[in-house]
Amino acid sequence: MGRVALVTGGSRGIGEAISKKLKADGYSVAATYAGNDEAAAAFTAETGIKTYKWNVADYDASAAGIAQVEADLGPIDVIVANAGITRDAPFHKMTPQQWNDVIGTNLTGVFNTVHPAWPGMRERKFGRVIVISSINGQKGQFAQVNYAATKAGDLGIVKSLAQEGARAGITANAVCPGYIATEMVMAVPEKVRESIIGQIPAGRLGEPEEIARCVAFLASDDAGFINGSTISANGAQFFV
Ligand code: CAA
Repeated sequence: MGRVALVTGGSRGIGEAISKKLKADGYSVAATYAGNDEAAAAFTAETGIKTYKWNVADYDASAAGIAQVEADLGPIDVIVANAGITRDAPFHKMTPQQWNDVIGTNLTGVFNTVHPAWPGMRERKFGRVIVISSINGQKGQFAQVNYAATKAGDLGIVKSLAQEGARAGITANAVCPGYIATEMVMAVPEKVRESIIGQIPAGRLGEPEEIARCVAFLASDDAGFINGSTISANGAQFFV
């Protein structure tokens, strides 16, 4: 049987492409989602990938959900912490609620997703943790003080986990997508989106599958010595 992979936010957007790619590569995949039952049902009907509904911002819900995935599919070998939200607003208008929602899902959600599965990975001496960060965690972004803080935080998480997991055969890496053609980016006002595309030397948005292929590589045995790294996939929009 193939390895088991958990993809949070795995039924839509970049997560959907990751779930499909990992399934195509032979993994048993579990995809989580937070609220959109209709999209999750359509995703399962299309792909045969089982979905699980929990709020990654809630530790107990995450731990219970992960225990259920492991009961259904076996021990989790690969975690893709992908679930993320935006609540964009210029800082002077950003509310504590907008700050807390984004911190809860995008940053605490990574802790809540990795922490319950970490002891098992240590015991089995194998694990792959891949966190989906963002170009905006690397460069900051107007109206995204909350989101940029979480995505920069993701890079600190993987660099630290990499050092803790290395001797136990666990790698932890981040992928920083640039602007990808998903609902999240399409929600940006059209004029703003056009000006963003104008700043991408590739002259286009990225495709979710282009991020999925980065994830699949980091999950593979070939990537065993890549640990604590960041792969940027942004069409040359920004260099670290
Ligand atoms: N840089 C500089 N100025 C900007 C700007 C930018 N990127 N975006 C907006 N502005 C300016 C506007 O031109 C406007 O200026 P004026 O008042 O002089 O006309 C001002 O900011 C807008 O101010 P408002 O008070 O009217 O703003 P608002 O409360 O209506 O909020 C907004 C609008 C939320 C900022 C909206 O413009 C927006 O969504 N911008 C896009 C933010 C963005 O890029 N988010 C990324 C989402 S995709 C993603 O996050 C995925 C990923 O990982 C890459």
